Amino acid sequence: MATIIIDGEQKEVADGSAIMDACEDLGVPLGCRAGQCGMCIITIREGMENLEPMNDAEKDLGLDDDQRLACQAIIRSGTVVAAY
Ligand code: FES
Repeated sequence: MATIIIDGEQKEVADGSAIMDACEDLGVPLGCRAGQCGMCIITIREGMENLEPMNDAEKDLGLDDDQRLACQAIIRSGTVVAAY
């Protein structure tokens, strides 16, 4: 299992799974859920190495190095600490 922590609240998710549902449960607002609107941008405070690399949708939005899209990011394992 992997762990996503946002603003001190945490959810467990399966290794290799999308973090979208956990992020939504932890209060991250979602819009298009398709990597296009940018509403779900989160800032990764710890554990960026535990996420799969950015996909094309994330790259196309020009995110900063510490940002990811909650609707697109996949967690490998371990813990990711984020804020939104
Ligand atoms: S919800 Fe639109 S980019 Fe993630």
